[in-house]
Amino acid sequence: MIEEIRCAVLGLGRLGYWHAENIASKIQGAKLVKVIDPLKGRAEEVARELKVESWSENPNDAFKDENIDAIIIVTPTSTHAEMIKKAAQHKKHVFVEKPLTQKLDEADDVIQVIKENNISCQVGFMRRFDPAYVEAKRRIAAGDIGKPLYFKGVSRDGNVPQEEFIKYSGGIFLDVAIHDYDIARFLMNDEVHSIQATGNILLESNKFMEKYHDVDQGLSTIRFKSGAAGDVETTRIAPYGYDIRGEVIGTEGAIQIGSMRQNDIKLFTKNQTSHDLVQDFPTRFKDAYLLEMVHFIDTLRKGEQPLCTAWDGKKALEISIAATSSFNNGETVLLKH
Ligand SMILES: NC(=O)c1ccc[n+]([C@@H]2O[C@H](COP(=O)([O-])OP(=O)(O)OC[C@H]3O[C@@H](n4cnc5c(N)ncnc54)[C@H](O)[C@@H]3O)[C@@H](O)[C@H]2O)c1
Repeated sequence: MIEEIRCAVLGLGRLGYWHAENIASKIQGAKLVKVIDPLKGRAEEVARELKVESWSENPNDAFKDENIDAIIIVTPTSTHAEMIKKAAQHKKHVFVEKPLTQKLDEADDVIQVIKENNISCQVGFMRRFDPAYVEAKRRIAAGDIGKPLYFKGVSRDGNVPQEEFIKYSGGIFLDVAIHDYDIARFLMNDEVHSIQATGNILLESNKFMEKYHDVDQGLSTIRFKSGAAGDVETTRIAPYGYDIRGEVIGTEGAIQIGSMRQNDIKLFTKNQTSHDLVQDFPTRFKDAYLLEMVHFIDTLRKGEQPLCTAWDGKKALEISIAATSSFNNGETVLLKH
Protein backbone atom coordinates (compact mmCIF):
# COMPACT_ATOMS: atom_id res chain seq x y z
CA MET A 1 0.00 0.00 0.00
CA ILE A 2 1.32 3.45 -0.91
CA GLU A 3 1.95 5.56 2.21
CA GLU A 4 0.97 8.98 0.92
CA ILE A 5 -0.64 10.46 -2.22
CA ARG A 6 0.64 13.97 -2.91
CA CYS A 7 -2.15 16.06 -4.42
CA ALA A 8 -2.62 19.35 -6.24
CA VAL A 9 -5.99 21.06 -6.56
CA LEU A 10 -6.51 22.89 -9.84
CA GLY A 11 -9.30 25.49 -9.72
CA LEU A 12 -10.22 27.04 -6.36
CA GLY A 13 -13.73 28.34 -7.01
CA ARG A 14 -17.07 27.31 -5.45
CA LEU A 15 -16.22 23.60 -5.20
CA GLY A 16 -12.41 23.52 -5.58
CA TYR A 17 -11.98 25.19 -2.21
CA TRP A 18 -13.98 22.43 -0.45
CA HIS A 19 -11.96 19.68 -2.09
CA ALA A 20 -8.74 21.50 -1.11
CA GLU A 21 -9.89 21.88 2.49
CA ASN A 22 -10.83 18.19 2.74
CA ILE A 23 -7.51 17.00 1.31
CA ALA A 24 -5.51 19.45 3.44
CA SER A 25 -6.83 18.25 6.77
CA LYS A 26 -9.32 15.40 6.69
CA ILE A 27 -8.03 12.51 4.57
CA GLN A 28 -5.64 9.90 5.83
CA GLY A 29 -2.88 9.12 3.33
CA ALA A 30 -3.35 12.36 1.36
CA LYS A 31 -1.19 15.47 1.39
CA LEU A 32 -2.13 18.70 -0.33
CA VAL A 33 1.17 19.99 -1.74
CA LYS A 34 0.00 22.60 -4.27
CA VAL A 35 -3.02 24.77 -5.06
CA ILE A 36 -3.46 26.49 -8.42
CA ASP A 37 -5.84 29.07 -9.83
CA PRO A 38 -5.19 31.68 -12.53
CA LEU A 39 -7.33 34.26 -10.70
CA LYS A 40 -4.88 36.78 -9.24
CA GLY A 41 -4.28 36.25 -5.52
CA ARG A 42 -6.66 33.26 -5.15
CA ALA A 43 -4.09 30.43 -4.95
CA GLU A 44 -1.86 32.41 -2.58
CA GLU A 45 -4.83 33.17 -0.33
CA VAL A 46 -5.95 29.51 -0.20
CA ALA A 47 -2.38 28.26 0.33
CA ARG A 48 -1.97 30.60 3.29
CA GLU A 49 -5.34 29.64 4.75
CA LEU A 50 -4.86 25.87 4.40
CA LYS A 51 -1.08 25.94 5.10
CA VAL A 52 -0.12 24.49 1.71
CA GLU A 53 3.59 24.67 0.90
CA SER A 54 3.27 25.67 -2.77
CA TRP A 55 0.86 27.65 -4.94
CA SER A 56 0.75 28.93 -8.51
CA GLU A 57 -1.33 30.96 -10.96
CA ASN A 58 -0.18 28.83 -13.88
CA PRO A 59 -2.10 25.54 -14.41
CA ASN A 60 0.93 24.02 -16.19
CA ASP A 61 2.86 24.07 -12.91
CA ALA A 62 0.74 21.18 -11.66
CA PHE A 63 1.60 18.92 -14.56
CA LYS A 64 5.37 19.40 -14.52
CA ASP A 65 5.82 19.08 -10.76
CA GLU A 66 7.51 15.76 -9.88
CA ASN A 67 6.28 16.03 -6.28
CA ILE A 68 2.67 15.55 -7.36
CA ASP A 69 1.00 12.13 -7.75
CA ALA A 70 -2.61 13.20 -8.32
CA ILE A 71 -4.40 16.27 -9.64
CA ILE A 72 -7.90 17.24 -8.55
CA ILE A 73 -9.43 19.13 -11.51
CA VAL A 74 -12.16 21.58 -10.45
CA THR A 75 -11.84 24.05 -13.31
CA PRO A 76 -14.67 25.21 -15.61
CA THR A 77 -16.19 22.29 -17.51
CA SER A 78 -14.95 23.55 -20.89
CA THR A 79 -11.33 23.01 -19.74
CA HIS A 80 -11.69 19.45 -18.35
CA ALA A 81 -10.65 17.54 -21.50
CA GLU A 82 -7.42 19.50 -21.90
CA MET A 83 -6.58 19.33 -18.18
CA ILE A 84 -7.18 15.55 -17.93
CA LYS A 85 -5.06 14.85 -21.01
CA LYS A 86 -2.17 16.97 -19.76
CA ALA A 87 -2.32 15.35 -16.32
CA ALA A 88 -2.41 11.83 -17.80
CA GLN A 89 0.46 12.56 -20.18
CA HIS A 90 2.51 13.58 -17.15
CA LYS A 91 1.49 10.34 -15.38
CA LYS A 92 -0.60 12.07 -12.74
CA HIS A 93 -3.72 10.35 -11.45
CA VAL A 94 -6.87 12.41 -11.89
CA PHE A 95 -9.99 13.26 -9.94
CA VAL A 96 -12.15 15.40 -12.21
CA GLU A 97 -15.38 17.15 -11.39
CA LYS A 98 -18.43 16.29 -13.47
CA PRO A 99 -19.00 16.38 -16.36
CA LEU A 100 -15.95 14.41 -17.57
CA THR A 101 -15.85 16.59 -20.71
CA GLN A 102 -18.37 18.61 -22.73
CA LYS A 103 -18.24 16.58 -25.96
CA LEU A 104 -18.28 12.86 -26.70
CA ASP A 105 -15.22 12.88 -28.97
CA GLU A 106 -13.33 14.61 -26.14
CA ALA A 107 -14.48 11.87 -23.75
CA ASP A 108 -13.20 9.18 -26.13
CA ASP A 109 -9.86 11.00 -26.46
CA VAL A 110 -9.55 11.37 -22.71
CA ILE A 111 -10.34 7.67 -22.08
CA GLN A 112 -7.70 6.69 -24.66
CA VAL A 113 -5.03 8.90 -23.06
CA ILE A 114 -5.92 7.59 -19.58
CA LYS A 115 -5.47 4.01 -20.85
CA GLU A 116 -2.21 4.72 -22.68
CA ASN A 117 -0.67 6.31 -19.59
CA ASN A 118 -2.10 3.75 -17.17
CA ILE A 119 -3.41 6.31 -14.69
CA SER A 120 -6.51 6.22 -12.54
CA CYS A 121 -9.39 8.64 -13.13
CA GLN A 122 -12.38 9.19 -10.86
CA VAL A 123 -15.29 11.44 -11.87
CA GLY A 124 -16.99 13.59 -9.22
CA PHE A 125 -20.45 12.02 -9.08
CA MET A 126 -20.59 12.49 -5.32
CA ARG A 127 -24.19 11.26 -4.91
CA ARG A 128 -22.76 7.72 -5.22
CA PHE A 129 -20.94 8.40 -1.90
CA ASP A 130 -23.75 10.19 -0.05
CA PRO A 131 -24.79 7.96 2.88
CA ALA A 132 -28.50 8.01 1.90
CA TYR A 133 -27.82 7.03 -1.73
CA VAL A 134 -25.29 4.38 -0.58
CA GLU A 135 -27.94 2.82 1.69
CA ALA A 136 -30.56 3.00 -1.09
CA LYS A 137 -28.16 1.21 -3.46
CA ARG A 138 -27.49 -1.47 -0.84
CA ARG A 139 -31.21 -2.07 -0.20
CA ILE A 140 -32.05 -2.19 -3.92
CA ALA A 141 -29.15 -4.59 -4.60
CA ALA A 142 -30.34 -6.76 -1.68
CA GLY A 143 -33.72 -7.09 -3.45
CA ASP A 144 -35.69 -5.18 -0.80
CA ILE A 145 -37.92 -3.45 -3.39
CA GLY A 146 -37.93 -6.31 -5.89
CA LYS A 147 -37.14 -5.56 -9.52
CA PRO A 148 -36.64 -1.80 -10.13
CA LEU A 149 -39.27 -0.46 -12.54
CA TYR A 150 -39.21 3.34 -12.22
CA PHE A 151 -36.60 5.97 -11.33
CA LYS A 152 -37.52 9.50 -10.28
CA GLY A 153 -34.93 12.25 -9.87
CA VAL A 154 -35.50 15.78 -8.60
CA SER A 155 -32.72 18.39 -8.64
CA ARG A 156 -33.83 21.90 -7.65
CA ASP A 157 -31.22 24.52 -6.91
CA GLY A 158 -32.32 28.14 -6.64
CA ASN A 159 -28.75 29.43 -6.25
CA VAL A 160 -28.39 30.55 -9.88
CA PRO A 161 -24.69 30.63 -10.82
CA GLN A 162 -23.07 33.72 -12.35
CA GLU A 163 -23.74 34.34 -16.06
CA GLU A 164 -20.06 33.55 -16.77
CA PHE A 165 -20.58 30.05 -15.31
CA ILE A 166 -23.83 29.44 -17.25
CA LYS A 167 -22.05 30.52 -20.44
CA TYR A 168 -19.52 27.67 -20.18
CA SER A 169 -21.64 25.12 -18.28
CA GLY A 170 -22.96 23.27 -21.34
CA GLY A 171 -26.60 23.80 -20.33
CA ILE A 172 -28.90 22.46 -17.61
CA PHE A 173 -28.98 18.85 -18.88
CA LEU A 174 -25.18 18.65 -18.96
CA ASP A 175 -24.48 20.69 -15.84
CA VAL A 176 -27.23 19.59 -13.45
CA ALA A 177 -29.34 16.68 -14.75
CA ILE A 178 -26.14 14.69 -15.36
CA HIS A 179 -26.07 13.92 -11.60
CA ASP A 180 -29.52 12.32 -11.89
CA TYR A 181 -28.59 10.42 -15.05
CA ASP A 182 -25.53 8.98 -13.32
CA ILE A 183 -27.37 8.03 -10.14
CA ALA A 184 -30.19 6.55 -12.24
CA ARG A 185 -27.70 4.19 -13.95
CA PHE A 186 -26.16 3.38 -10.57
CA LEU A 187 -29.39 2.68 -8.66
CA MET A 188 -31.26 0.95 -11.47
CA ASN A 189 -28.14 -1.04 -12.48
CA ASP A 190 -29.27 -0.41 -16.04
CA GLU A 191 -28.37 1.66 -19.10
CA VAL A 192 -30.54 4.31 -20.72
CA HIS A 193 -32.09 3.21 -24.01
CA SER A 194 -33.78 6.49 -24.98
CA ILE A 195 -34.57 9.93 -23.64
CA GLN A 196 -36.96 12.76 -24.38
CA ALA A 197 -36.44 16.23 -22.90
CA THR A 198 -38.21 19.57 -22.78
CA GLY A 199 -37.34 22.85 -21.07
CA ASN A 200 -38.42 26.42 -20.38
CA ILE A 201 -37.24 29.65 -18.84
CA LEU A 202 -39.80 30.33 -16.14
CA LEU A 203 -38.19 33.14 -14.16
CA GLU A 204 -37.89 36.62 -15.71
CA SER A 205 -34.48 37.11 -14.05
CA ASN A 206 -33.16 34.02 -15.86
CA LYS A 207 -34.01 35.33 -19.36
CA PHE A 208 -30.26 35.89 -19.95
CA MET A 209 -29.96 32.07 -20.33
CA GLU A 210 -31.65 32.33 -23.75
CA LYS A 211 -28.35 33.65 -25.19
CA TYR A 212 -26.74 30.32 -24.31
CA HIS A 213 -29.70 28.16 -25.50
CA ASP A 214 -30.17 27.26 -21.86
CA VAL A 215 -33.25 27.04 -19.61
CA ASP A 216 -33.96 27.24 -15.89
CA GLN A 217 -36.26 24.23 -15.88
CA GLY A 218 -35.86 20.94 -17.76
CA LEU A 219 -37.78 17.68 -17.74
CA SER A 220 -36.54 14.39 -19.11
CA THR A 221 -38.37 11.13 -19.63
CA ILE A 222 -36.21 8.04 -19.71
CA ARG A 223 -36.59 4.52 -21.03
CA PHE A 224 -34.03 2.00 -19.76
CA LYS A 225 -32.66 -1.00 -21.68
CA SER A 226 -34.52 -3.40 -19.37
CA GLY A 227 -37.82 -1.70 -20.22
CA ALA A 228 -37.90 0.23 -16.92
CA ALA A 229 -38.81 3.93 -17.09
CA GLY A 230 -38.01 7.18 -15.30
CA ASP A 231 -38.25 10.94 -15.17
CA VAL A 232 -35.88 13.68 -14.07
CA GLU A 233 -36.97 17.17 -13.03
CA THR A 234 -34.14 19.69 -13.06
CA THR A 235 -34.56 23.33 -12.17
CA ARG A 236 -32.67 26.43 -11.12
CA ILE A 237 -35.83 27.66 -9.40
CA ALA A 238 -36.25 26.73 -5.73
CA PRO A 239 -37.09 29.78 -3.64
CA TYR A 240 -37.10 27.61 -0.50
CA GLY A 241 -33.66 25.97 -0.68
CA TYR A 242 -31.61 23.18 -2.23
CA ASP A 243 -33.83 20.21 -2.93
CA ILE A 244 -32.34 16.94 -4.15
CA ARG A 245 -34.42 13.78 -4.07
CA GLY A 246 -34.54 10.38 -5.68
CA GLU A 247 -36.96 7.49 -5.76
CA VAL A 248 -36.98 4.00 -7.16
CA ILE A 249 -40.19 2.01 -7.44
CA GLY A 250 -39.84 -1.75 -7.71
CA THR A 251 -42.13 -4.76 -7.97
CA GLU A 252 -42.12 -5.24 -4.16
CA GLY A 253 -41.85 -1.68 -2.82
CA ALA A 254 -40.29 1.73 -3.25
CA ILE A 255 -37.35 3.60 -1.81
CA GLN A 256 -37.22 7.38 -1.35
CA ILE A 257 -33.99 9.32 -0.89
CA GLY A 258 -33.71 12.82 0.54
CA SER A 259 -35.73 14.71 3.15
CA MET A 260 -34.47 18.26 2.46
CA ARG A 261 -33.79 18.70 6.17
CA GLN A 262 -30.50 19.89 7.54
CA ASN A 263 -31.18 18.91 11.16
CA ASP A 264 -33.65 16.27 12.23
CA ILE A 265 -35.78 18.58 14.37
CA LYS A 266 -39.29 20.03 14.16
CA LEU A 267 -40.21 23.38 15.68
CA PHE A 268 -43.68 23.81 17.20
CA THR A 269 -45.15 27.29 17.81
CA LYS A 270 -48.71 28.45 18.49
CA ASN A 271 -50.45 27.59 15.23
CA GLN A 272 -47.82 25.85 13.21
CA THR A 273 -44.96 23.43 13.04
CA SER A 274 -41.84 23.81 10.88
CA HIS A 275 -38.44 22.34 10.16
CA ASP A 276 -35.33 23.75 8.54
CA LEU A 277 -34.29 23.24 4.90
CA VAL A 278 -30.92 22.70 3.25
CA GLN A 279 -29.86 25.82 1.34
CA ASP A 280 -26.94 24.82 -0.90
CA PHE A 281 -24.82 22.01 -2.33
CA PRO A 282 -21.82 22.35 0.02
CA THR A 283 -24.21 21.75 2.94
CA ARG A 284 -26.28 18.90 1.44
CA PHE A 285 -23.31 17.00 0.08
CA LYS A 286 -20.63 17.92 2.64
CA ASP A 287 -20.14 14.28 3.66
CA ALA A 288 -20.33 13.00 0.09
CA TYR A 289 -17.58 15.39 -1.11
CA LEU A 290 -15.35 14.14 1.68
CA LEU A 291 -16.23 10.45 1.21
CA GLU A 292 -15.67 10.51 -2.57
CA MET A 293 -12.19 11.97 -1.98
CA VAL A 294 -11.43 9.40 0.74
CA HIS A 295 -12.38 6.73 -1.83
CA PHE A 296 -10.16 8.32 -4.51
CA ILE A 297 -7.15 8.36 -2.18
CA ASP A 298 -7.83 4.85 -0.83
CA THR A 299 -8.10 3.33 -4.31
CA LEU A 300 -4.86 5.03 -5.38
CA ARG A 301 -3.05 3.78 -2.28
CA LYS A 302 -4.31 0.22 -2.84
CA GLY A 303 -3.91 0.29 -6.64
CA GLU A 304 -7.64 -0.38 -7.17
CA GLN A 305 -10.16 1.01 -9.69
CA PRO A 306 -12.49 3.76 -8.37
CA LEU A 307 -16.26 3.20 -8.17
CA CYS A 308 -16.91 5.96 -10.67
CA THR A 309 -14.56 5.88 -13.66
CA ALA A 310 -14.05 7.92 -16.83
CA TRP A 311 -16.27 5.30 -18.54
CA ASP A 312 -19.11 6.19 -16.16
CA GLY A 313 -18.35 9.84 -16.91
CA LYS A 314 -18.78 9.13 -20.62
CA LYS A 315 -22.04 7.18 -20.15
CA ALA A 316 -23.62 10.05 -18.17
CA LEU A 317 -22.32 12.53 -20.76
CA GLU A 318 -23.96 10.52 -23.57
CA ILE A 319 -27.32 10.74 -21.78
CA SER A 320 -26.92 14.49 -21.16
CA ILE A 321 -26.02 15.16 -24.78
CA ALA A 322 -28.97 13.06 -25.96
CA ALA A 323 -31.26 15.04 -23.60
CA THR A 324 -29.89 18.36 -24.92
CA SER A 325 -30.41 17.20 -28.49
CA SER A 326 -33.98 16.09 -27.70
CA PHE A 327 -34.66 19.47 -26.05
CA ASN A 328 -33.34 21.27 -29.16
CA ASN A 329 -35.08 19.08 -31.76
CA GLY A 330 -38.23 17.92 -29.97
CA GLU A 331 -37.54 14.25 -30.74
CA THR A 332 -36.90 11.16 -28.63
CA VAL A 333 -33.21 10.28 -28.89
CA LEU A 334 -32.00 6.66 -28.88
CA LEU A 335 -28.65 6.05 -27.23
CA LYS A 336 -26.02 3.95 -28.98
CA HIS A 337 -24.63 1.03 -26.97
N1 LIG B 1 -20.21 17.77 -8.06
C1 LIG B 1 -20.89 18.89 -7.81
O1 LIG B 1 -21.86 18.89 -7.08
C2 LIG B 1 -20.43 20.18 -8.41
C3 LIG B 1 -20.87 21.39 -7.85
C4 LIG B 1 -20.37 22.59 -8.41
C5 LIG B 1 -19.50 22.54 -9.48
N2 LIG B 1 -19.13 21.34 -10.01
C6 LIG B 1 -18.19 21.28 -11.15
O2 LIG B 1 -16.92 21.80 -10.72
C7 LIG B 1 -16.31 22.54 -11.78
C8 LIG B 1 -15.99 23.94 -11.26
O3 LIG B 1 -17.20 24.53 -10.86
P1 LIG B 1 -17.23 25.72 -9.79
O4 LIG B 1 -18.65 25.92 -9.49
O5 LIG B 1 -16.29 25.46 -8.69
O6 LIG B 1 -16.73 26.91 -10.73
P2 LIG B 1 -16.15 28.34 -10.30
O7 LIG B 1 -16.34 29.21 -11.49
O8 LIG B 1 -16.67 28.76 -8.98
O9 LIG B 1 -14.58 28.05 -10.10
C9 LIG B 1 -13.72 27.70 -11.14
C10 LIG B 1 -12.32 28.14 -10.74
O10 LIG B 1 -11.40 27.65 -11.72
C11 LIG B 1 -10.48 28.70 -12.02
N3 LIG B 1 -9.95 28.43 -13.36
C12 LIG B 1 -10.43 28.81 -14.55
N4 LIG B 1 -9.66 28.31 -15.54
C13 LIG B 1 -8.70 27.58 -14.95
C14 LIG B 1 -7.59 26.84 -15.43
N5 LIG B 1 -7.36 26.73 -16.73
N6 LIG B 1 -6.80 26.23 -14.53
C15 LIG B 1 -7.03 26.34 -13.20
N7 LIG B 1 -8.05 27.04 -12.68
C16 LIG B 1 -8.88 27.64 -13.56
C17 LIG B 1 -11.26 29.99 -11.90
O11 LIG B 1 -10.41 31.09 -11.66
C18 LIG B 1 -12.16 29.68 -10.70
O12 LIG B 1 -11.56 30.06 -9.48
C19 LIG B 1 -17.30 22.52 -12.95
O13 LIG B 1 -16.90 21.53 -13.87
C20 LIG B 1 -18.63 22.14 -12.31
O14 LIG B 1 -19.47 21.40 -13.19
C21 LIG B 1 -19.56 20.17 -9.48
